[in-house]
Amino acid sequence: MACKKRCSSRQTKWALIGSASVVLVFAFGMVLSFVLQQRTQPGCEQEAACRPDADMLDYLQSLGQISQRDGLLVTWYHAANSQKEMGAALSSNAMVLEADVTIEGLNTVNETGVPVMAHPPAIYSDNTLQQWLEAVLAFSQKGIKLDFKSLKAVGPSLALLRRLTEDGRVRRPVWINADILRGPNVPISIEVNATQFLALVQENYPEATLSPGWTTLYVPLFPNRTYTRAMVEKMQGLVGALPQKVTFPVRAVMVRAAWPHFSWLLGQSQRYSLTLWQGASDPVSVDDLLYVRDNSASHQVYYDLFEPVLLEDMLELCRALWQPVSFQLHAGLLGQNTAGVVARLLAASPRATVTVEHSPLRGNYASVRAALLAARAMDKTRIYYRLPRSYREDLLADVGRN
Ligand SMILES: *[C@@H]1O[C@H](CO)[C@@H](O)[C@H](O)[C@H]1NC(C)=O
Ligand SMILES: *[C@@H]1O[C@H](CO)[C@@H](O)[C@H](O)[C@H]1NC(C)=O
Ligand SMILES: *[C@@H]1O[C@H](CO)[C@@H](O)[C@H](O)[C@H]1NC(C)=O
Repeated sequence: MACKKRCSSRQTKWALIGSASVVLVFAFGMVLSFVLQQRTQPGCEQEAACRPDADMLDYLQSLGQISQRDGLLVTWYHAANSQKEMGAALSSNAMVLEADVTIEGLNTVNETGVPVMAHPPAIYSDNTLQQWLEAVLAFSQKGIKLDFKSLKAVGPSLALLRRLTEDGRVRRPVWINADILRGPNVPISIEVNATQFLALVQENYPEATLSPGWTTLYVPLFPNRTYTRAMVEKMQGLVGALPQKVTFPVRAVMVRAAWPHFSWLLGQSQRYSLTLWQGASDPVSVDDLLYVRDNSASHQVYYDLFEPVLLEDMLELCRALWQPVSFQLHAGLLGQNTAGVVARLLAASPRATVTVEHSPLRGNYASVRAALLAARAMDKTRIYYRLPRSYREDLLADVGRN
């Protein structure tokens, strides 16, 4: 009996010491990770670029994450909703996190009014918006894009953002997305009420960049059905007079066919950009994306694409195009595939030119004859030659013969 009492008090003591150490170690870990975070990530230093209403490209450039104001350089993480997904997103290289907000138990008897991170049809989540924001703001510098499928979630979410912003904690751009107009191939009205959505943002969180979109359905049977001029003009009517930056989410697979409308829209304000997005099974081609890129400024379009390879191909082609628009190729290195390489470069942009060069030190005319002739056969106006005079004469003679 005596022992029982003494032992239990000893146990209590050890338990107390034990939990105190756990708390200490945890606190130490938190401080350390915070310090490391500060060390490894240069803070956002240009004040104007570190605000919720800042331009995303300015922000990422001020962090040194992108080298120039080009939407193609921005990388995205999708549906970073559950604790697990959020953790993966936070430890990824993605520059901007996209996540979906709904109300816990939406439209059931269990509805609580608490914004949680879930994509419809899910209405429950192990992650509330508050937890999400706390984690993302504390442990990353990633940009934030919140997607709302229901108007009910907008008010309470903006109130949370308001509080955190007033505490000085939201030092990065925040995008607020909702589909507010009916778009291509959608037979029924499922969009978020536009006037109410826009009013909520103006009243509660005017700092946000608006991302107002159209509901869409892609029907492979009718690939030509796309956004109409009326849809695009209606959007301009809604947001044309607002003060915020606006980025319009556009389904990439349908953008080319509607390009005249989106080109018109981009021309309506300096505040506008497009965010091209891809449905999981949408057949988006590099060709379509290059078309958009060639017909817009690089800061006007973001590429939030499902297939990573698509973005890699775009980057590869455009990396060359950022520098001089003229490609310098060494004839001796072109090998068997001259026509393919040259065609690809010329197709990358109507502005692209190719200069094929060769030095006699790298081999005689015969060694590059096939490559030069292949290039010449591809195009006569956009391919130039930097060759020793005798090689040039030989090439002209060969071309004349063929
Ligand atoms: C509400 O919550 C209860 C308890 O968690 C659950 O059993 C019930 O299925 C929920 N009702 C609806 C409509 O989701
Ligand atoms: C959106 O909400 C407003 C205000 O409640 C209402 O007047 C309007 O009819 C709604 N618009 C649509 C398209 O339902
Ligand atoms: C799409 O193509 C089909 C078949 O060519 C044509 O009948 C239809 O009118 C086109 N639709 C649009 C919106 O251009």
